[in-house]
Amino acid sequence: MSKAPAFPRAEQIEASLELLAERCEDPTPLVYARLFERLPEMRAYFWRDSNDAIKGEMLARTFAAILDFIGERRYAGHMIGTEMVTHEGYDVPREIFTTFFKVIAETTEVVLGSDWSSDFATAWREMLAEIDRYAAAVPRTDVVSPAFDSIKAQMQERYGAGGQSATT
Ligand code: HEM
Repeated sequence: MSKAPAFPRAEQIEASLELLAERCEDPTPLVYARLFERLPEMRAYFWRDSNDAIKGEMLARTFAAILDFIGERRYAGHMIGTEMVTHEGYDVPREIFTTFFKVIAETTEVVLGSDWSSDFATAWREMLAEIDRYAAAVPRTDVVSPAFDSIKAQMQERYGAGGQSATT
């Protein structure tokens, strides 16, 4: 007997994404138009993406992560955590990182129109809340602790801001 899906309303999420795939050959332009409407400052982060390949890849990987997250959950929990930290390296704060899932939910709702059922709405709302809980559990890398602050000050005192040893 196959294992029960990790997310109890997985069927509704899958059904809504299947309808999205039927109705919209490539949702990439719709998803990013909505993202940049909500967060115009994020557009500049994709400066390297001259042919939308990165945006497409990012969306495809996020859909795959959603399907794993609701189903077998073999890697999605870990991937969401590591990607969130990677994105902090791009200066994308984690509070913004998780909004991408919401933007996908909203785009799906718009494309499905009257076929966006209350079951779909409940399933997406609960899944987004679960992803937020996951994200909140990932240790922060962007917070400088007071302890780290004093170590940094000592190191700078000893080695100077450029890191050159005062003794050499
Ligand atoms: C609003 C939220 C987000 C923003 C602003 C954002 C921004 C970016 C940017 C700017 C890049 C490209 C960096 C480069 O130039 O190489 C990128 C790549 C990527 N992002 Fe995001 N991201 C967001 C959310 C997510 C989420 C939720 C996931 C998946 C869980 C994700 C997965 C990825 C992946 C896999 C790549 C690499 C794509 C490739 O290899 O071409 N991102 N993201």
